Amino acid sequence: MRYFYITGTSRGIGKAIADVLLEDKRNMVMGISRNHTIEHTNYSAITLDLNDLEKVREFSFGEHPDAEKIVFVNNAGVLGHVSQVGRMYNEKIIQSYNINLVSPSILINTFIGQFQDRDMEKMILNTSSGAARHTIPSWSTYCSTKTGIEMFLQVIEDEQKDFDHPFRIYSVAPGVVDTEMQDEIREVEPENFRELDRFVQLKKEGMLVDPKAVGKKFADIMEHPENYPKTLMDLRD
Ligand SMILES: NC(=O)c1ccc[n+]([C@@H]2O[C@H](COP(=O)([O-])OP(=O)(O)OC[C@H]3O[C@@H](n4cnc5c(N)ncnc54)[C@H](OP(=O)(O)O)[C@@H]3O)[C@@H](O)[C@H]2O)c1
Repeated sequence: MRYFYITGTSRGIGKAIADVLLEDKRNMVMGISRNHTIEHTNYSAITLDLNDLEKVREFSFGEHPDAEKIVFVNNAGVLGHVSQVGRMYNEKIIQSYNINLVSPSILINTFIGQFQDRDMEKMILNTSSGAARHTIPSWSTYCSTKTGIEMFLQVIEDEQKDFDHPFRIYSVAPGVVDTEMQDEIREVEPENFRELDRFVQLKKEGMLVDPKAVGKKFADIMEHPENYPKTLMDLRD
């Protein structure tokens, strides 16, 4: 069997990735989020709050002795407090770092630790963002957490050259995708976000990407890594 642990499967991009993978009977999807919306015989619901660091520290992956392939998709994420630094709630800063950077780093450490010596196809795929690669005003915690986890993965990719059974690493920016995160962006007060109008216009002009298209592309990357030699990708390219 092939096992895919995916964070943030309750909606949006994570759900779309899971839905595509579940079309193939050989795939088992283990979804990690606070809520679950998928009902499928090959779907296992793992309820975990990525802001609860104690629970994340205790988390362990299944052993899966029959696995021929195992993948961790780091997808769950929050936009965080959209506002200029100096006006942000400190609690929201902690929450964003926990969900987008600290918990994913812990989960990836656990994942690699458990499976490093296993001889099978192994992969980590990160849902990145353009915001990992350039600044956006009022998105300081989002940009910095997205950059942080992307660099964490690039270091891992370098380290994996020393191992007999290395993990393949991908970090893929999907474009501007029509999910609840985009609804949240358009609801921000204009005085808190200079670029609000750009996001409102993208939606009005029908320029948002369908999450299903992202799900298909991510599934293709996981299915045919031989066609994707680059670690960092941007689906808009
Ligand atoms: N939408 C875009 O335009 C866009 C562009 C670039 C990158 N991305 C990235 O794509 C990823 C998915 O975003 P999306 O647009 O699909 O957002 P979304 O529709 O808001 O979905 C976010 C997912 O993350 C999960 N999540 C949030 N807080 C969590 C927590 N405390 N613990 C566990 N899970 C949590 C949610 O599950 P629960 O609420 O059930 O826990 C949900 O399944 C994010 O990493 C985002 O940064 C999105």
